Amino acid sequence: MQNIFCFSKEATDVAFTDRRKEIERIKQHIRNSIHFFVVSPRRMGKTWLLTKVSEEVEKEGIDTMWIDISSIATIRALAKEIVKGVFLIAKKNFSFENPVNFLKMLPVEITQNINMSISIKGVSVDVRDENVTDTIIGTLKTLDSFRNRSLVVFDEFQDIATAYPEFLNALRSVAQHSKHISYAFMGSKRTMMEEIFSNPKSIMYHMGAKIVLGPIPEEEMRLLIRRGFSVARIEYEEEAVDEIVKVTEGLPYYAQYLGYYVLLRENKKITKETVKETINVIIDEDSADFDMKLSMKGWKYIRPILSYISHNGSSKGIYASIENVNKGTISYYLNFLEKEEILYKDKEYYKMTNPFFRIYIRRKLIL
Ligand SMILES: Nc1ncnc2c1ncn2[C@@H]1O[C@H](COP(=O)(O)OP(=O)(O)OP(=O)(O)O)[C@@H](O)[C@H]1O
Ligand SMILES: [Mg+2]
Repeated sequence: MQNIFCFSKEATDVAFTDRRKEIERIKQHIRNSIHFFVVSPRRMGKTWLLTKVSEEVEKEGIDTMWIDISSIATIRALAKEIVKGVFLIAKKNFSFENPVNFLKMLPVEITQNINMSISIKGVSVDVRDENVTDTIIGTLKTLDSFRNRSLVVFDEFQDIATAYPEFLNALRSVAQHSKHISYAFMGSKRTMMEEIFSNPKSIMYHMGAKIVLGPIPEEEMRLLIRRGFSVARIEYEEEAVDEIVKVTEGLPYYAQYLGYYVLLRENKKITKETVKETINVIIDEDSADFDMKLSMKGWKYIRPILSYISHNGSSKGIYASIENVNKGTISYYLNFLEKEEILYKDKEYYKMTNPFFRIYIRRKLIL
């Protein structure tokens, strides 16, 4: 049986729901070399979305350089990644293999900071620790001097922005003057990202268009689940699809996760019952982790808050309904739970990031 449901880092075409509106909007920005930042809670689909966008713009001759900040330990490592990324784009556009050709393109003052060699494993890059910011900036300016447009993605950008303000400063100036590059800054920590891009005191203030990625619309989700079942050539009840869509609330990771395990569980006909049983198994496996979260410091406030949100679907009306706890305390814990990635903010209200945890709380906590 073929199981297309997939919840890994690598995006696949068959398991992708459309997100057409977001894709078209982003493509417009890229064609106009406008910078943008994408904010969403974890696992909402930022990486998948930008992967799709970069595949589509590649057909228009736009190259992508992808820098995943979460895998970078030092600013020097970041410099290496950037030099390597720009080299790969240059190599493709100017049809050369030898890094010497590339070094000639860079500003002379930074070439002494860079060592490049080529082996069967590909190109290896080393950069000196001194003037590392200059190395990065000089390399990005070189990329901008190419006639082709390019997209530079910084995934999990917030991490580096807070750790290396001098880098942020330099990046702002290079981004401000760039002509052929669209910079995409992605992050899953909403408050940090907003601090960086929406606070007038921040050096990156208004550096790009804001894109907020929310849950996937029900109809798109339904199509994905049906497609998954059809590809697996398995019979299914429409109620089973409804149940998956309802429970997972447009959260793509959990829809794929549940779809995947439902298919593993059943090989004849998928019913609403199959979905319910699968959910029970998942919850059972995660219950120790859920219990730990419900015993965190501050549980006296955390439990009523999570219970309210789990029962009502969102935090709408929460301040009026939790008695004996003042507004400030509730709002402090809402914030705290968002930082812990237990809640996320969807427009103005908070919701549970994990729909299985939501079910668990609904079953377990007595108000
Ligand atoms: N457009 C989509 N259609 C279908 N499934 C999707 C889509 N986008 C994301 N997913 C599912 O959600 C999972 C998480 O997506 P992705 O890794 O892109 O999220 P993210 O926002 O980058 O998360 P993180 O902050 O953890 O990096 C994917 O592995 C996939 O299962
Ligand atoms: Mg990601």
